[in-house]
Amino acid sequence: HRRRLEDRYGRVATDLRVSLTDRCNLRCSYCMPAEGLDWLPDDSVLTDDEVVRLVRVGVELLGVEEVRFTGGEPLVRRGLVDIVRRTHALGVETSLTTNALGLARTATALAEAGLDRVNVSLDSIRPESFAAITRRDRLPDVLAGLAAARDAGLGPVKVNAVLMRGINDDQAPELLRWAIGEGYELRFIEQMPLDAQHGWSRDGMVTADEIFTALESEFVLKPADEPRGSAPAELFLVDGGPATVGVIASVTRPFCGDCDRVRLTADGQIRNCLFAREESDLRAALRGGASDEEIADRWVTAMAGKRAGHGIDDPTFLQPDRPMSAIGG
Ligand code: GTP
Ligand code: 5AD
Ligand code: SF4
Repeated sequence: HRRRLEDRYGRVATDLRVSLTDRCNLRCSYCMPAEGLDWLPDDSVLTDDEVVRLVRVGVELLGVEEVRFTGGEPLVRRGLVDIVRRTHALGVETSLTTNALGLARTATALAEAGLDRVNVSLDSIRPESFAAITRRDRLPDVLAGLAAARDAGLGPVKVNAVLMRGINDDQAPELLRWAIGEGYELRFIEQMPLDAQHGWSRDGMVTADEIFTALESEFVLKPADEPRGSAPAELFLVDGGPATVGVIASVTRPFCGDCDRVRLTADGQIRNCLFAREESDLRAALRGGASDEEIADRWVTAMAGKRAGHGIDDPTFLQPDRPMSAIGG
């Protein structure tokens, strides 16, 4: 009998997000400090075979239907194409969330390996602004990566933009105009308290309402009729469609009640929520000789403790120990 990854609120996780590395080749200021972080030691990071085994347990024994590879930056992981190929062979949908650096070189190989879609993080299409946010002058590489993904059929290609007050919050309409012209689905994301520096503040965060106000100065937005399901993004038709824009309002309009996600970190820990306080060590089980069934049991148990919501608004809220870059977004 197939088990399910069900929590005590009746939510069932079918969407597995796998972080393949905590390292990154950009240094987005809202994510990590200029000097980077203390990266995971190599021997604590799962090998390609270990990643594929855990994914297979999720798919074959626990009802996982979609697998998204994240980071850090997943393109810096050497075995990525092979991991994608072996995951695709399990019969599940595969996708990638990436900053697109180097994607121009690998998009075709990824598509041939069976990757279905990519989402690309890009917060500005102005070279100086991009360089100020990411601390690297690499906008042309990102734009080339995006175009390569689109041309390789890794679509619809989505673009994720985080707006920051005083930094790029004046760029929402130009980002949308550009994305529509290029054929990318743009989504604006409310920033969450998951930065390594613990510098997030509610006042600093650009809210979904502010994003609408900025966009409505140039566009007419109407809620799209598509059922949202468990997707974080609310979709809006732009000027009557067919172009759309998404807003991921994790903070001001939480969607935790419909969550269908579970995360595996690069060092083999199950996190039942971005904001989980505890993890479950599947790497220890794996390296200790556990059977697939035993690993599956441990994973099911890890879901029981999933909390109802992120709790960002609770007075007792504590930012999790791991930053976004080590969880995988
Ligand atoms: P699609 O399947 O293409 O819709 O992917 P996605 O939007 O779920 O994935 P992506 O990796 O592009 O994530 C975009 C943003 O959604 C992230 O930056 C997060 O801000 C937010 N997000 C993703 N998963 C969660 C989640 O479980 N909880 C919350 N609060 N936000 C999430
Ligand atoms: N809050 C919301 N989104 C974030 N991202 C990185 N840090 C945060 C944060 N604190 C975004 C990236 C990427 C996605 C995986 O997460 O821009 O698009
Ligand atoms: Fe790298 Fe993503 Fe963090 Fe930017 S947000 S530094 S691209 S992990």
